[in-house]
Amino acid sequence: MRRIDRIVILTGAGISAESGLGTFRDEGGLWAQHRIEDVATPEAFARNPDLVHRFYNARRMQAADATPNAAHHALARLQARFSGDVMLVTQNVDGLHEKAGAQAVHMHGELARALCPTCGHRWEAPIEMTVGEPCVACAAPTARPDIVWFGEIPYHMEQILDALQTCDLFAAIGTSGQVYPAAGFVEEARMAGAATVELNLRDSDMSHAFDDHITGPASKTVPAWVDRLLA
Ligand code: APR
Repeated sequence: MRRIDRIVILTGAGISAESGLGTFRDEGGLWAQHRIEDVATPEAFARNPDLVHRFYNARRMQAADATPNAAHHALARLQARFSGDVMLVTQNVDGLHEKAGAQAVHMHGELARALCPTCGHRWEAPIEMTVGEPCVACAAPTARPDIVWFGEIPYHMEQILDALQTCDLFAAIGTSGQVYPAAGFVEEARMAGAATVELNLRDSDMSHAFDDHITGPASKTVPAWVDRLLA
């Protein structure tokens, strides 16, 4: 078996579900309650910035109150103790990996950050953003949540693809495999010859592409998987 020196882990909303944050596509999830085209596209923000701010303000308040669960803590432990590299890539915007003490690459942005579309400056978002909020750098009254919306290009893609092309193990935790480019990461890792494992409550749209499957709630499966990697 190939020695494992470099691990890339992709996380999705499922890892934060047991911290009380709703997922997007499970029954009763966020996208059953809100239409993506109303709240999560640049066009939606141009058309009705107040609605979009209210949607993300609610998400930001929930995330601020949430605490990491055993899965977030286990990944932080892996990052601190594994002898090789562990890159944690998250589609989540909630900041729970950081609260657990891990460092994550946020490909879909962060609720805690604001972005000025006029000058590109980013800063810590207030808990409630409002329409016309001025940029702290250039004062343009167009601040938006620093979230990658549908139709926009995810952040840090070069760094992520480089890591996928040289990793020995790729794991996807709590993601439905329905949103690209993240859904395609397993194929990138396979092409690099990496072993692949999916940790999820149930099969995802990308399950067929993984070598191994660990089924169950992340708070149970992730700590046990991390223990095996560190043994
Ligand atoms: N433990 C493990 N997996 C879980 C748990 C749990 N406790 N609860 C739910 N899951 C799994 C579900 O089975 C599902 O496969 O988490 C996944 C959640 O899927 P989605 O709601 O689609 O979330 P995600 O894959 O992160 O969505 C990707 O879509 O709308 C966008 O930008 C948003 O980053 C998000 C992206």
